[in-house]
Amino acid sequence: PLSVSQYLRQHIRTVPDWPAPGVQFRDITPLLQDPRVFRVLIDAFVHRYMAPELRPDVVAGLDARGFIVGAVVAYELNVGFVPIRKKGKLPFTTVEETYELEYGSATVELHTDAVRPGQRVLLIDDLIATGGTMMAGKRLLEKQGAVVTEGAAIVDLPELGGSERLRAAGLNLFTLVDFE
Ligand code: PRP
Ligand code: HPA
Repeated sequence: PLSVSQYLRQHIRTVPDWPAPGVQFRDITPLLQDPRVFRVLIDAFVHRYMAPELRPDVVAGLDARGFIVGAVVAYELNVGFVPIRKKGKLPFTTVEETYELEYGSATVELHTDAVRPGQRVLLIDDLIATGGTMMAGKRLLEKQGAVVTEGAAIVDLPELGGSERLRAAGLNLFTLVDFE
């Protein structure tokens, strides 16, 4: 019998040379498209975060694919969902964090009333590459006094070093599928 990780891995599509030559893009859209697979994916997270010691007060999702998974997990856990968005999208007052990309930089924002000091937050995205996006999300939430109890993603690309950097920065990290 296949493990959950093996089953999910079979439904992640690799697109060569996208968005640039030499990149093997791990595409999670087939996971979402098949309702049986989508359920296995969501249930893997829900099962873990239902446990009293890991149950968050709120789920934060990273723009844009972290919204798809994070919102459903929050709904199933019966906790609220807050979006961490790319700069310029959130209408109310925000806090922001800028981080470095391979070329240039990116900025993400969080509404100032999204989390309260001491709240336990589960931070979700679809994939960890360099870890920059999740690190910026962690900093934003901590700047607001929240406690990031865990970071979760479907896919880790360990060769890019992101998951190692995030763990070195003190983040508990849970991922379902590794692609070397
Ligand atoms: C991708 C992915 C993660 C991030 C991972 O998002 O969904 O959010 O990059 O990379 P990192 O670990 O190196 O930060 P992308 O920026 O492509 O945005 P999108 O979800 O809006 O397509
Ligand atoms: N897939 C999805 N998002 C990504 C990837 C990938 O392979 N690399 C960086 N962000």
